[in-house]
Amino acid sequence: MVSLRTATPADAGLLESWEKQSHVIEAGAGDDWNWKVELTRRPAWREQLIAEVDGRPLGFVQIIDPAAEETHYWGEIGPHKRAIDIWIGDRQDLGRGYGTQMMERALERCFADPGVMEVLVEPLTSNHRARKFYEKLGFRFLEHRMFGADHSAVYVLRRP
Ligand SMILES: CC(C)(COP(=O)(O)OP(=O)(O)OC[C@H]1O[C@@H](n2cnc3c(N)ncnc32)[C@H](O)[C@@H]1OP(=O)(O)O)[C@@H](O)C(=O)NCCC(=O)NCCS
Repeated sequence: MVSLRTATPADAGLLESWEKQSHVIEAGAGDDWNWKVELTRRPAWREQLIAEVDGRPLGFVQIIDPAAEETHYWGEIGPHKRAIDIWIGDRQDLGRGYGTQMMERALERCFADPGVMEVLVEPLTSNHRARKFYEKLGFRFLEHRMFGADHSAVYVLRRP
């Protein structure tokens, strides 16, 4: 049974080791997260969460309000949305259903706010595994777009 808890500065070493894993780098998720600084901050537009299975840390989930996020990397975007980043840390934990449970928990958190109407994800266009994963969760393809140098496929899940 997977659960999510708030990440703390004590998780910095774990997150640094995960972001160096090749499957995380290939997903474009291993960018400079600056954990030691960011884990001490709790801006209102972001949640950084550790997924655990039976108390064992397994992966990372970030939920942001893309309209309020401070670098505005989503560009012009309306309110009432959330955007999710997700990865599993160890390769051996891939493909065992944990990611599905992590997203289910994350989506429950997003839609627990009655003002949130849709959730966005932006896998790399080349990340066929993640795209299939999101489609299976009910996300619909919206558009191809660039985020910096990344070719991404944007998917949306509307409030059930
Ligand atoms: C994407 C990710 C979170 C999915 O979690 P997961 O635990 O591996 O996925 P699940 O076991 O819950 O599988 C759910 C579905 O995903 C897809 N999937 C999982 N593993 C797959 C694989 N090896 N190849 C293709 N599709 C795969 C399938 O549709 C699968 O459904 P199925 O088991 O009925 O075939 C995980 O693979 C991951 O962390 N990948 C690296 C980082 C990443 O790509 N993050 C997303 C960036 S936007």
